Amino acid sequence: MSRIIMGIESSCDETGVGLVRLSDDGTVELLADEVASSVDQHARFGGVVPEVASRAHLEAMVPTAERAFATAGLKLSDVDAIAVTAGPGLAGALLVGVSAAKAYATALDVPLYGVNHLAGHIAVDTLQHGPLPSLVLALLVSGGHTQLLRVDDIASKITELGSTVDDAAGEAYDKVARVLDLPYPGGPPIDKAAREGNPSAIAFPRGMTGPRDAKFDFSFSGLKTAVARWVEKTERGGAEVPVNDVAASFQEAVADVLTAKAVRAAKDQGIGTLVISGGVAANSRLSSLAAERCAAAGIELRVPRPRLCTDNGAMIAALGAHVVAADRPVAPLDFSANPALPVDVISL
Ligand code: KG4
Ligand code: ZN
Repeated sequence: MSRIIMGIESSCDETGVGLVRLSDDGTVELLADEVASSVDQHARFGGVVPEVASRAHLEAMVPTAERAFATAGLKLSDVDAIAVTAGPGLAGALLVGVSAAKAYATALDVPLYGVNHLAGHIAVDTLQHGPLPSLVLALLVSGGHTQLLRVDDIASKITELGSTVDDAAGEAYDKVARVLDLPYPGGPPIDKAAREGNPSAIAFPRGMTGPRDAKFDFSFSGLKTAVARWVEKTERGGAEVPVNDVAASFQEAVADVLTAKAVRAAKDQGIGTLVISGGVAANSRLSSLAAERCAAAGIELRVPRPRLCTDNGAMIAALGAHVVAADRPVAPLDFSANPALPVDVISL
C-alpha cells in the first residue's frame, strides 16, 4: 500500500506545494511540484521584503495547492500525511504555510509533520537520483544559507560541519549583481555574463582559506567588498568596467572556495558522496568545477536539476516521505513555526 504525502513550503518568496508517492519499499516518486514565486515583487528592492512575501503566500497558497492536485490527478482525500516547512525562514512567511498545513491536516484528519527546510533541500535529490547512500556530505548553497552538512540519515541525523560566518553564497551573487548593475536575483545574470568573461582576469580573494581559518566555514563578505572596491576604482579611473571579466573572476572565487572545502570535508570525514543543493547549485561553474574535483578525488557527485534546487514544495514532500517511512513522531497540532530552527532538528 503506497501513501500520498503533501508538502507545503513558504519559508521565503516561493509558495510551493508538492505531492509524492511513498511506496512500501521506501521509494519516493514525484507526482506534482507547483510553485508560485513573488520574486518579481521584490526585484525593485534588491532583496526579499518579508511583509510582501507573507501577503503573496496568503494569496497563492490555495490556488497553488489546487494546481498541484490537478497536475497529479489526485483529490484532497487521497492525501495520507502532510509535511510543512517549520523553519528556518521568515517568521510571517512560515506562518502562512504552517497555518494552511494545520487546516488541511485537521480537515482531512491526517498526520502533520513540521520539517526542516534545509533538510528538504537535501531530501529532494532522492526524487531525481533515488535513495541516498547511508552517509552523505551536503553542500547547501542558497540566498539564505551556505553550509556543509554531514548526513548520517536524512530522516533523523544531520550534523553541521561548517557554515558562512557572514553572507550566504547567493547573497554575495545578489550584492555583486547590484554593483555591476545587473538585475535581481543576481545569480543567473552573473552566471551568464561570466560565460563571456575571463575567470583569471582579476585575482579576487578566497575567503577563510588561510592556515588558521576554520576548515569548513565560509566567508563571502570580503570578496563582495573586494569586487565593489575594484569596480569603484576602475570607474574613478574613467575606464569602462569589464562586467564579463568581473563576473567570471568573482564566480571563479566562489566556486573555487565552495568546491575545495566540500572535497576537503568529504575526504576528512571519509564520505564518498557529495550532494550540492540550493539555488546556487544551479550555477554552471560551481557544478563543472565540482564535477572535475569530485572525479579527481573519487567522490560521487549528485546535483538535482535546477528546478528542484530552488525552493519548492516537492522538497518538503520528499523529506516528509522519508520522515513518515522512518516512523518519526507526528508534530502536535499546536506547534509553532521556528524562524531559527537549527539544522539538526529535521522534524519537530
Ligand atoms: O534556494 P533559493 O531559490 O532560495 C533561498 O532559499 O535563498 O536560492 C536563491 C539564490 C539567489 O541568491 C540567487 O541569486 C541564487 O540562488 N542563484 C544562483 C543561480 N541561480 C540562482 N547563483 C549562482 N548561479 C546561478 N545560476
Ligand atoms: Zn531554500
